[in-house]
Amino acid sequence: MTIQWTKGLNTNIRSIDLQHQELVSLINQLETLHLAGRNTQALDEVLPQLHTYVLFHFREEEDLMVMLVGNEELDQLHLAQHREFIDHMHTLQQRRNPHNEADTAQALVHYLKNWLLEHIATTDRDLGQKLLAQHTAFAAR
Ligand SMILES: [Fe+2]
Repeated sequence: MTIQWTKGLNTNIRSIDLQHQELVSLINQLETLHLAGRNTQALDEVLPQLHTYVLFHFREEEDLMVMLVGNEELDQLHLAQHREFIDHMHTLQQRRNPHNEADTAQALVHYLKNWLLEHIATTDRDLGQKLLAQHTAFAAR
């Protein structure tokens, strides 16, 4: 089942929430193609878009982290989660071959959905709360 955006996923940092919605939309496109049996299209067309967008999005979040004071430990954890995600995406893509397109797409969709929802609901929401607490300018956006 594709992801439905709910308020529980909001970090209340506008730019981040819009980027997360874009990521959800790309993951939903991947899943829709996979479920329709169009795995090669999912992996050749949507996955590279997702990959590029994720790199941009992580950089945006990491630039915001720099604005926080006294959050070094959680920032390190956050950076480690981003790195683990990129590594896992590479591993899945390396395992891809013409005989396992459906398995690769399924594993990818499963991983992306679990990782993103868990990461947003915990680590990114925590980042949002801290940014709002330390920088009143974000509250107006
Ligand atoms: Fe994040």
